[in-house]
Amino acid sequence: MLISSATNPRIKHARKLLRQRKFREQHGEFVVEGVQAVAEALAQGWRLRQVYYHDESVRSEKALQVLDELDAHLCIELTRPVLTRLSERPDNPSELIAVIASPRDDLARVPVSNDMLAVVLEEPRDPGNLGTVIRTADALGVGGVVLLGPTVDLYGPKTVRATMGSLFAVPVAHVPDVDGLAGWITRIRAEVEELRVVATVARDAGAIHEQDFRGATLVVVGNERRGVSDELRAACDTAATIPMSGSAESLNSAVATSIVLYEACRQRAARG
Ligand SMILES: C[S@@+](CC[C@H](N)C(=O)[O-])C[C@H]1O[C@@H](n2cnc3c(N)ncnc32)[C@H](O)[C@@H]1O
Repeated sequence: MLISSATNPRIKHARKLLRQRKFREQHGEFVVEGVQAVAEALAQGWRLRQVYYHDESVRSEKALQVLDELDAHLCIELTRPVLTRLSERPDNPSELIAVIASPRDDLARVPVSNDMLAVVLEEPRDPGNLGTVIRTADALGVGGVVLLGPTVDLYGPKTVRATMGSLFAVPVAHVPDVDGLAGWITRIRAEVEELRVVATVARDAGAIHEQDFRGATLVVVGNERRGVSDELRAACDTAATIPMSGSAESLNSAVATSIVLYEACRQRAARG
């Protein structure tokens, strides 16, 4: 099939998925642009509903592999102007743009074990921060990311882009409130020897290198503006601070998450 009009219903549908969170939620779909990300989604078993491409623009081996692997009816050819219209980078559209089904939102996707390491983000509002945390979690082998309370859309184009394909490798789930999180924590405690739920706070707690991150751990990170809420802090076992010596009041939440996760991984590697 070749689509040559930007008013084709499929193209209008994909563009609306890019623009409207509500539409994404209604349809349980979102849009991903880029060969690497689309290939990762395919490799990780996500359901690709359509992959759009312009024949003469497909050059890389990887893009060709994706198109080869997929059922032919899912691969839809566009004229160059239509691909440009769909792209978020009209100056330089990617070879592949995919519509992908979002998975069921379920905490059970985050693996529980005696050496689990997962992140809880309270009300993340910035898509770049959320995407960066997911990318870091993937790079460091973290088991999952839990989003607590009202959050920026995980499947919005800015978040998806910031994950650089890691969205497909790391389980991400959402809990609406602290009670829901506390229920999950109770279930984990019933399964593992010991769980430490560590609130990260910008001041007034023990330094991260003095904390023990070697057992099952949840690293809790606060909202960009307000930090960790009192209610969430009360559900944590302890708190930890990244020592700061300059005049900055706090670190960016994604940077703080990365530093704490690095310390946790360093301790785990030292344990052998
Ligand atoms: C931008 S900070 C929030 C600042 C907020 N005004 C406060 O006082 O908590 C966002 C989150 O990043 C983490 N964070 C920032 N700086 C940190 C530090 N020095 N040590 C540990 N966590 C930090 C905390 O989880 C914090 O809630």
